[in-house]
Amino acid sequence: MNVAVIGTGYVGLVTGVVLSEIGHTVTCIDIDEKKVEIMQKGKSPIYEPGLEDLLVKNISKNRLAFTTNHKKAFEKSEIIFIAVGTPQSESGAADLKYIKQAAKDIAQYITNDTVVVVKSTVPVGTNDLVENIIKQELKLDVKVEVVSNPEFLREGHAIHDTFHGDRIVIGSDKEKPGDKIEALFTPLKLPIVRTNRRSAEMIKYAANAFLAVKISYINQIANLCEKLDADVNAVAEGIGMDSRIGRAFLNAGLGYGGSCFPKDTEALAFLAKEYNTSLNIVDAAIQANSNQSEIFTQKIIDRFKGNVQGKSFAILGLAFKPNTDDLREAPALKIIEKLLSLGAKVKVYDPIVQHLNEYQAGVLEHCQSIQECMDNVDATLLVTEWDEFIENDWKELRKYPNQPLLFDGRNILPTDKLVKLGWQVEGIGQAQKRKSVEVI
Ligand code: UGA
Repeated sequence: MNVAVIGTGYVGLVTGVVLSEIGHTVTCIDIDEKKVEIMQKGKSPIYEPGLEDLLVKNISKNRLAFTTNHKKAFEKSEIIFIAVGTPQSESGAADLKYIKQAAKDIAQYITNDTVVVVKSTVPVGTNDLVENIIKQELKLDVKVEVVSNPEFLREGHAIHDTFHGDRIVIGSDKEKPGDKIEALFTPLKLPIVRTNRRSAEMIKYAANAFLAVKISYINQIANLCEKLDADVNAVAEGIGMDSRIGRAFLNAGLGYGGSCFPKDTEALAFLAKEYNTSLNIVDAAIQANSNQSEIFTQKIIDRFKGNVQGKSFAILGLAFKPNTDDLREAPALKIIEKLLSLGAKVKVYDPIVQHLNEYQAGVLEHCQSIQECMDNVDATLLVTEWDEFIENDWKELRKYPNQPLLFDGRNILPTDKLVKLGWQVEGIGQAQKRKSVEVI
C-alpha cells in the first residue's frame, strides 16, 4: 500500500521504516528541512539500535522516501499516519496544535480517498476532532475516514517492539477503514485488538499510566524496604512471580523519565479532573515519581553529613534510560542540578550523550570515559543502567575515585561482589544489614 507518515520523531520514523520493511511504499514528511536531508542520506536523526540499517535498506529499495512537501507525499497515498508530538501544555493537558495542523494539511492537500490514522498519543475524543477539522477544511470531494492506532514501542527497543509487539490496537467506528489498517499490518503477524476510536485512545493512556503506577509502587515499597532492612530486589522477584502481578516494570530506581510516562500521566490526570472523576491513584504515582530522585540525592547528601560543598561526584549515565540519547525528564538532570546548587563539583559521562546544552561550559565536566569521570571523585553515582557500566571491571575502576563510595540508582550492579572488592555500595531499597538469617 502507499502510505504517508506526518512527523518523523521516534514514533513516526520507526512506523515509516517498519512499514517500508514489510513491503509498503512510504513517504515520511517533516517540516524540518535539515532533518529531512539527513534522513534522505540514510542517517537516523535519533540514536535507536537497528533503525539506521533498515533506513538505508529501504531507501535503496525505493520503498522509503522523505520530504518536506505534503502535496507530493499525499499524491499517491491511500493511508496517512499522523505521528506528530503532543507535548504537555502548562495545564498538564496535551497540546494538540501539531495534530490540528496535520489535520489541516491533510484537508488541504489530499487528492484521493484516504484513511487517516492517528498514531500520536492523544486525549480521548481527538480522533473526532481530527475528523471534524478535515471535513470542514477539505478542498476536494474525496472520502476521509479516521482510525486510531496507538503506539506501544519503547525507545531503545523501538524496532524490536514494532516487530514483536504484544498487540496492535485498531480503533475504528466503521468496519471498512479498520479492515484496511488491519490488512496494512498483516505481515507483522501480531495479535490485533479491534475496538472503537475512543476506547483505542483510552487504551494508550491507561496502559502508560498503569506502568507508571507500577513503577511508583515498587519505588515506594523500595523506600520502605530501606527503612525496614528488607531488599526490594527480592520483593520484586517474589511478587513478580505471581502471574497476576508480573515481574516487568518492577525495577526500583530513580523514577520514570522520558517523553511518555511523565507527559501521559499528567494528561490522563488532567482529563479525569476535567470530567470530575477521581483518578488519584495516577496523581499519587506522579507525586511519588517526582520525589524519587530527590530521595536518592538526599541520601547522598546525608552520607556527606549534609555538606557536599567542594565534594566531587561522578555521574554515570545521563539519558533517561539506556540505549537512547533522550534526555527528556531524565533523573540525571535533577540530580546534577541539586548537587551543583549545593556547591558540589560534578563530572558526567554517558556512552552516547555527548553534550548537555542545559549547562554552560565549565559548570560541569563532561568526560569521555568512565575512568576519566571517576578519577579523583568523592562518590560515584550510577544513574543510567548502560551495559558499559554493568559489564565494567569494577576491580580496576576501584583505583580511580578518592574513596570507594558508590550509589547505584538502578540496583543494577552486583552489590555483594562489589562489597568484596572494597566498594561501599548503596542501592535503592536494599537491605543494609546483609547478614540476615535465611529462613527456610
Ligand atoms: C513507554 C512505554 O513502555 C511504551 O509502551 C510506550 O509506547 C511509550 O512509553 C510511549 O508512550 O511512546 P519509553 O518511555 O520509551 O516507553 O520507555 P520505558 O522502557 O517504558 O521506560 C520508561 C521509564 O520507566 C524509564 O525512565 C525507565 O527507567 C523507567 N522504568 C521502567 C523504571 O524505573 N522501572 C522499570 O521497571 C521499568
